[in-house]
Amino acid sequence: MLSRKVASQLKEIETPFYLYDINLLRQTLESVVYESNKYNYKVHYAIKANNDDYLLSIIKEYGIGIDCASGNEVRKAIEMGFDPKTVVYAGVGKKDKEIRYALEQEILAINCESIEELQVVDALAAQMGKKADVGLRVNPDIDPKTNHCIDTGQADSKFGISYDEILENVELIQSLKNINIIGIHIHIGSQIRELHVFENMCNKANAIVEKLESLGFSFRMVDVGGGLGINYDVPENEPIPNFASLFAIVREYLNVGDKEVHFEFGRSIVGECGELIASVLFNKTTATGRRLLIIDASMTELIRPMLYGSYHNIENITSEEEVFKKYTVVGTACESTDVFDENISLKKSKRGDLLAIKSAGAYGRSMASEYNMHELPKAVYSDQLLTK
Ligand SMILES: Cc1ncc(COP(=O)(O)O)c(C=O)c1O
Repeated sequence: MLSRKVASQLKEIETPFYLYDINLLRQTLESVVYESNKYNYKVHYAIKANNDDYLLSIIKEYGIGIDCASGNEVRKAIEMGFDPKTVVYAGVGKKDKEIRYALEQEILAINCESIEELQVVDALAAQMGKKADVGLRVNPDIDPKTNHCIDTGQADSKFGISYDEILENVELIQSLKNINIIGIHIHIGSQIRELHVFENMCNKANAIVEKLESLGFSFRMVDVGGGLGINYDVPENEPIPNFASLFAIVREYLNVGDKEVHFEFGRSIVGECGELIASVLFNKTTATGRRLLIIDASMTELIRPMLYGSYHNIENITSEEEVFKKYTVVGTACESTDVFDENISLKKSKRGDLLAIKSAGAYGRSMASEYNMHELPKAVYSDQLLTK
């Protein structure tokens, strides 16, 4: 990982901060573009994973589109110069002003997640004298075999419209004159490592498309979402996710003729490019014998371990000790759950040592908060660092 190589330079920078490996980001983008071009698949970057301006400017160079989950994300994409016709927008609770903005910008697709939303988009489009391009986000009822906190396509999930509800409302949907249903959208969850799950998703998509087209819909695109997982356990083994395998599965199992096939990758594009760098503040041991390593980052910089119980590999990148000890790594926030990991093995650590919390490029800085009046974390980019 980059942080180990540049540890001496990092010592000069005030912690905590995110370190982004720009070479790795570029290699990842080259891989996703190269592999997707083989099948003419369309890729969108899920901006929620990380909305950093510099990273977005690099992502834009590779000609991919953007997937958004709020009106402000749509605005950010457009302000950063992404073509609105490459922007898709999903979300269970779009506000009227967000829908109006998306309509005004004439983005590629507003992916609607309820029958009521379809009616609202139709009504707002009518008021604006527009016809909206819309995708039906279908809940396919698939277990993606990932952390339950980040699955999105099971029957009881808040995301998407149930297939049955669509079938019950075919006439109503087709009566909406100011929307153009251009495709279906499915996103079953995030951090999916068992790729056979995507076979299941493709089979469901085939059946949904076939049935709905037999009922009079005519789709030009199928958006199968994101979800490709990364290797949090040993990131060094797999710095670039296996886009080729996922595309090969979709190629084999998705049978939707010549419709455009779209993907929305977040974590797999930026996840491995970022590390959170923090300093050790204090060592202490609880009365129960828990050895705590208190660092100057917390859930306000990276909330995933506290929110989802997610694992991030942590390494002391500056200790010169040969000895390893067991530590529970905790942050500065005033919450007992502010724990990065329990009882992990690290080189013997002392005040001032730097820890790298790896694979933190996605859903790290974009989920940061100012709780306890913490400052939002800064970013350091490898290309700027190395040329100094
Ligand atoms: C609709 C939608 N598309 C794409 C993504 C990106 O997922 P991932 O980062 O797992 O690729 C998400 C993540 O929550 C999502 O909700």
